[in-house]
Parts: sequence; C-alpha cells; structure tokens
Amino acid sequence: MKSKTIFYCTACGNETPRWQGRCPACGAWNTIEEHVGAPATKAKPSAAAVSRKPKTLREVDCGSEVRFATGLGELDRVLGGGAVEGSLVLVSGAPGIGKSTLLLQICSELGQSRRVLYISGEESETQIKLRAQRLGVTTENLLLLSETDLTQILETARETAPDILIADSIQTLCDPDNTSSPGSVSQVKACTMALMQLAKGSGITVFVVGHVNKDGAIAGPKVLEHMVDCVLYFEGEAAHNYRILRAEKNRFGSTNEIGVFEMADHGLREVPNPSEMLLAGRPTHAPGTCVACAMEGSRPVLAEVQALVARSNFNVPRRMADGFDYNRAVLLMAVLEKRGGVNLSSSDVYINVIGGLTLNEPAADLPVVLAAASSFRDKVMDSGVAAIGEVGLTGELRAVSNLSQRLSEVRRLGFRCCLIPRQGTSQLEPPEGLEILRVRNIREAIETLL
Ligand code: TYD
Ligand code: MG
Repeated sequence: MKSKTIFYCTACGNETPRWQGRCPACGAWNTIEEHVGAPATKAKPSAAAVSRKPKTLREVDCGSEVRFATGLGELDRVLGGGAVEGSLVLVSGAPGIGKSTLLLQICSELGQSRRVLYISGEESETQIKLRAQRLGVTTENLLLLSETDLTQILETARETAPDILIADSIQTLCDPDNTSSPGSVSQVKACTMALMQLAKGSGITVFVVGHVNKDGAIAGPKVLEHMVDCVLYFEGEAAHNYRILRAEKNRFGSTNEIGVFEMADHGLREVPNPSEMLLAGRPTHAPGTCVACAMEGSRPVLAEVQALVARSNFNVPRRMADGFDYNRAVLLMAVLEKRGGVNLSSSDVYINVIGGLTLNEPAADLPVVLAAASSFRDKVMDSGVAAIGEVGLTGELRAVSNLSQRLSEVRRLGFRCCLIPRQGTSQLEPPEGLEILRVRNIREAIETLL
C-alpha cells in the first residue's frame, strides 16, 4: 500500500496537502515539514472491541471520581478542587515561566502519600536534585529519571508503578517508532497519546509540560488540546514576579478559576489575595485611574484600570485597550461621548488594566468610563473609591452579579466608598464601614466623582 505523505506546520500543527513556503493557517514562514505517514491500514477489531456493546447510563459502573490535593491550593483551585486520578493534565507556558518549578514543588506534598515518577528530558538527575534542594523537596517517594525515549519511559512506569507521573517536557520526548524529529507535530501527538493511554489504562495521574512557542501556540501545539483532560496555561510578564495559572480546558471542573503565584527565591509562592498584589504601587494622586472589581471564577479580584486621553494627531482618533476587550472599549468611549458629555472625537484613548489581568466582565465598564473621563478632565479621583457597574448603550448603569461579595472585597482592601448602579440594588445591605453611592447613569457617576 502506498504510504501517504503529509505536510505539517511545525508552529501550529496545520496539515496541508503539499509543501508551501508559508503556512496558510498561522502565516509562519518555512515551518512546513514533510512527514511520511504509515500506510493507512484498516484497524483490525480487537477481541475486546468485538464484545463491546453500548450500555445504558445505569449499567455503567463508575467509582466516584477520586480527587487528591496537590499541596498548592492555587493549583487545586484551577484543577477544580484537586487533581483527578487517572487524568492527564497539560501544563503549558512560555519557556522559563516556572512550569518545571511548579511541578517539582508539588512533589513535596504528593510524596507524603503517593509515589511520584519525575521524568525530565531537559535536565539531568543532578540538576533536578539541585533544584529540588532549593525548593525544599526532600521526599523519599520521588523517583527521578532523565530520559527522552518514550518506550523506556513507559517501561519504567510499568516497573515502578507510580501514582503520579510527570513528563517534562513533551517536546523532548521521542517515540522510536516514529521517524520524525522530537518536538515535531507527529512526535508530540504520538507521545501524548501513549501517555494518555498510560493514564487511562493504569490510573496514573500524568502531568505533562508543554512549551509555548513565540506565536503563542504550544509547539506541536493546539493538536494536544483535544487529546488531554485538562489544559493549564501558566502566564506572567517578564517584568513582574507573579504568575497566573489558568485552565483553558478542564474535563473535571470549571475553566474560569485562576491561580496566582509569585516567583520567589525558593520557588513559587501562592498569592491567596491577588487584589493586594494587583493594587500594590497604585498612584493615588494621578488622573485617569479607577479601581474595578471583577469575578475571577468564584472570587472577587480588584484591579486598577488606567486610561490616557490625549489629543489626536490623526483624522481618525486611536483607541487602544490592553487587558480589556477592544470593541467593548470603543463602544464605551462612544457612550461616554454621547451620553456622558465628554467630547472624545479628537482624542486618542488608551486603556490599560494593570498587572496583566484581563477584565472581560461587564462590571468593569464603569471603571473604564470613569478612568477615561478622569483623564479627559485631568481631574484626580478620590483614591478611596472603587466602581462597579455595567454600562448600557443609553448610558444607564446596570446591576452585576455577586454584588455583595464584590463589595466585601472592596471593603476588605480598605476602600472607603464604592460606586454602584442604582437599578436592582435597593435590597442590598452594604458591608459595614463601606459607603455606597448609588447612581443611575454615567453622567451622574461622573458628576459625583469628578
Ligand atoms: P522553570 O521552572 O525552569 O521554567 P520552565 O520549566 O517553565 O521553562 O523556571 C525557571 C525560572 O524560574 C528561572 O528564570 C529562574 C526562576 N526561579 C526562581 O526565581 N526561583 C526559584 O526558586 C526557581 C527554582 C526558579
Ligand atoms: Mg522546564
């Protein structure tokens, strides 16, 4: 049978029927590689497959899903309340962000009651030990192996029968049956598939590290997301020490929880109160800033929204938003102009959410509008005031969910006063010590504060 030749983009995993200089999917140059696939043979039905019949829901036998804590509360939160036995978790992020550190760190707690096999294709056992010493990991239940050969790894996993297997990183693993080079799409796919079978077949919980390349896709990349149970993204900014862990996909929990860490001298430290960190160093006597409160999963997080309104040198004024949806920002600026009486038609507006957080929640509308108005008028807003509210197209303010929870957080962080929509909040009991200002629309909000 004729073997089939496939062309893959090494950057995004896109398959094309012929070689091209530029990948039509991601636009990268010189990334398409030829790969001769095995001849497509019809899979023989195995003995087990023949006898398999569909079952009704009631007939399916399931032990309850077993979860265990990893020892890092922030990681457990993102996983949906701990790791699930027999699941495969992909931890992805840019090189150097702290993925290996995170996974080595959890070995300490996991090693108390479980056996962990840590396989690294990037570092030698000595290097891992040095890092473990630095992180204070001393458990006897941690087995280290520096290996890239997949067959060898699976063999070791069978022999040592660990409860948890950590593979760092998937791009360095190599399946000897596969002719393409390590890190290529088909290698990465084949290795993940083998680890997935190991996880499902033997109940081992597998953590796999995947590096993200420059374009933001995991190298050998998006191709993995559909295969694994859980995809976590570890993000952070080079200029800051803190890291945000986010679930992109989770078969066993919600995906809107975030975990916040800080990279310190002895590894990652959990940040249970991200609001404090995000508000640290906030300018108090500058125009163009307002504090917002967004729900990140089940917890309220405070963040500072900054705006700069400057005279435009172009016919079409510029709008830019970082950490906030661009189209939403454009819409809010139009509402601010038409309903708030702030003439922005010849001004550029730049919106920025401090701390690398993305506010994709309507509750952040009012702070964005107020920050822009404050910058336009060059008037400083009282730094003890936060604002919460969704802005409608007529400039009216609408109530948002979890208001009392958000107000408690605002109070906890020492704010004196909070601006909230009047509509839908008449029953609300404000937390003690926090003054509440109820406003109907953005014009009223601007008049109250500026
Ligand atoms: P690492 O976990 O090796 O990143 P990845 O596996 O995602 O590529 O993290 C490396 C960075 O973390 C490195 O730049 C140094 C920093 N770091 C600390 O600041 N403190 C520490 O205790 C450790 C272990 C690393
Ligand atoms: Mg690493």
